Amino acid sequence: MEYKIYRFKSLTSTQDKAKELSKKKLSDAVIVAENQTRGRGRFKRKWSSDKGGLWMSISLKPDDTKNLQYLTFAAAISVVKSIKKIANLKTSIKWPNDIHYKGKKLCGILTEGIFGNENYAIVGIGVNVNQNKFPDEIRDIASSLKMVNKRKINIKKLEENIINNFFNLYNNYYNKNEFKKILKMWKENSDTINKNVIVITRTKKINGKAIGVDDNCNLLLKLKNNKIIKIVEGDINVRY
Ligand code: ATP
Ligand code: BTN
Repeated sequence: MEYKIYRFKSLTSTQDKAKELSKKKLSDAVIVAENQTRGRGRFKRKWSSDKGGLWMSISLKPDDTKNLQYLTFAAAISVVKSIKKIANLKTSIKWPNDIHYKGKKLCGILTEGIFGNENYAIVGIGVNVNQNKFPDEIRDIASSLKMVNKRKINIKKLEENIINNFFNLYNNYYNKNEFKKILKMWKENSDTINKNVIVITRTKKINGKAIGVDDNCNLLLKLKNNKIIKIVEGDINVRY
């Protein structure tokens, strides 16, 4: 599939730019910015986006917009594969949308849908690549490839590799409704399954063992009393 890359020195958020372009009916585009002044995570949480990271959004017009959670999964698989290839580092996916290394977050993914006469999906990928430090509030939870590897990584190479991996998964599996294949690869690259986890919601903490992911990408949690409950992605945190 043909896609076009748009590069910017600075943007509020590559998600915003991708939305703007999709309003002009432009899709199959990749928006990359060297820095974002208002980068965001889920629920409008602040995403620290200084120069040195890879900040990009892929704008798509998928045939099927009922399964957007699989785009997040496909993006996560792509990032893990590319980090292995370009930085020779084995990272893992933490359900649903984080890539981490030794408990520190290296990458976050945010998929947003735009629904109207025509439907679009914007897959935002943020990778900490060459930053040397982070703001105080995330110093303990974030890391960059450079901080782990003690050497600089070529951001553009990483970007190209992720985009290639992503479009392969998108064309070969997502658009052919082969969601099971995406799920299988996701599981192979995730370290959440089989772990004892704590799920923190606004009102309570639930302890259990993550035993799998269902067809809608929800996490299946087995409680002490052997009951299995479904954890739906939302304003919750999973801790190992
Ligand atoms: P977690 O499960 O780690 O809390 P999340 O997937 O719930 O993350 P979001 O809800 O999307 O994350 O919010 C983004 C969070 O990521 C922020 O609240 C902040 O803690 C953290 N964060 C912000 N910028 C960065 C960054 N550049 N690298 C790593 N973590 C970041
Ligand atoms: C998360 O919180 O885990 C998701 C973070 C997603 C960050 C990326 S960086 C590129 C794109 N633009 C944004 O403003 N957010 C996403």
